Amino acid sequence: MWRELFRTKPLERLKAEAEAPAGRLRRALGPVQLTSLGIGAMVGAGIFATVGTAAAGGAHHIGAGPAIVISFILVAIACSFAALCYAEFASMAPVSGSAYTYAYATLGELVAWIIGWDLILEYAVGNVAVAISWSDYFQELLRGVGLSFPSWLGTDLRTAKQAAELVAGFADPSLALAELGAAAMRHAEAFAQAPRILGAPLIFNVPAVAIVALVTWILVIGIRESARFNTTMVAIKLATILFFVGLGFFYVKPENWKPFAPNGLAGITGAAAIIFFAYIGFDALSTAAEEARRPQRDMPLSILASLIICTVIYILVSLILTGMSRWDTLGTAEPLATAFTNRGMHWAAGIVSVGALVATTSVLVAFQLGQPRIFFAMARDGLLPQWAAAVHPRYRTPHVTTILTGVFVGFFSGITNINEMVELTNIGTLFAFVLVAAGIIVLRRARPDLPRPFRTPLVPWVPLAAILCCGYLMFQLPRVTWIRFFLWLAAGLAIYFLYSQRRSRLKQNL
Ligand code: ALA
Repeated sequence: MWRELFRTKPLERLKAEAEAPAGRLRRALGPVQLTSLGIGAMVGAGIFATVGTAAAGGAHHIGAGPAIVISFILVAIACSFAALCYAEFASMAPVSGSAYTYAYATLGELVAWIIGWDLILEYAVGNVAVAISWSDYFQELLRGVGLSFPSWLGTDLRTAKQAAELVAGFADPSLALAELGAAAMRHAEAFAQAPRILGAPLIFNVPAVAIVALVTWILVIGIRESARFNTTMVAIKLATILFFVGLGFFYVKPENWKPFAPNGLAGITGAAAIIFFAYIGFDALSTAAEEARRPQRDMPLSILASLIICTVIYILVSLILTGMSRWDTLGTAEPLATAFTNRGMHWAAGIVSVGALVATTSVLVAFQLGQPRIFFAMARDGLLPQWAAAVHPRYRTPHVTTILTGVFVGFFSGITNINEMVELTNIGTLFAFVLVAAGIIVLRRARPDLPRPFRTPLVPWVPLAAILCCGYLMFQLPRVTWIRFFLWLAAGLAIYFLYSQRRSRLKQNL
């Protein structure tokens, strides 16, 4: 039994399976498309939305202030240790499934299952947060052109209820508006105006569900089309960032940078655990390894290139943003647009909002592309039912898992709160990074003979640094996030012991 739990799947077998004609995905992606997938997955809700609460402070943490730029640099360092580990694995085992597959080859089936299950937090739950952010920007844009959208069809019950309670605390509504801001008033209105079923208010985020449905449909149609779609969106979002930085530069007031770190180190590290969300994604492109034309060379190159490009972008944006507006005014759902609206530059805010919409769409595409491929790899190994591993006869995409992912993400983006989803995503992803780094150390000892087209430098120090940094960031997250994380893992273990462990193809010697 003990040995069974830690049985590993040889890398040679992984590669052979990926090459078998029946289950083969189309190898269509080159280095530019892969790097663009990485940037497509990274630049999104993190830099367009979460950066605001990270700088200003939120429900569970104090703000970093202008020192948010230090948070970005610290997280970039932590991620580069993890990226160097991902790069070795991605070059060695260029098959679908990312960290799940790497763990199967090194740490054994049980750990692989845990990672696969944990990655649902990164990909699917992460996309729930991104879809909610998309919906926020979409509604902002509608308001900008004078169209109104029923507020109870554009938020979630918890946010609406909390806002209603806060607003009710003010005797004078105009005071509530001044203190809490327009967004809180809209959420409170959603609670008051929602139709009731047996007394329960009907509140549901329709735009979030709609964008998930659209992206799912595009991905079922085919990888080549999706990659092209993604490259265009990445170009648009980079142009938006350049626009923000270029124009914003002229409105920076250096006195806004003082005090630089109003909440000291605690503010910086607390914010780091939140804006980690902005970096999630360089690893997502490793799930497309089976569709890369020259994975050994291009996977490590694209992982590191997208991480470096995004770090530069984040440093520039956070410097300009906190230079334009005082840090404690940035806690809105669309801080980059707010920086311009505060100056009456509504046209510039509009351009930034359109860019944000495109950016979050491309993140959705990247993660909706990654999640099904992890499920696909797990089903191919027998840990999930076989029907999930089906490849569409014409489109050659894993259509069953793509649609299942769409249903899961769509449902939860309709009813949940963005901040909670960001925190849950971060803890899950950090945990996956820790396990991948551990996998590098284990495999160097267990299989020193394997060809490694890309070698993580300074093993075991770089993987150990990744484990320490990511572990540290995990401990910055609130207790409620830890509880949810443990509940999620417990559910996963129950499924493993009741189903997957018995059906494993490795166990059945298939
Ligand atoms: N890094 C992605 C984003 O910020 C998840 O939207």
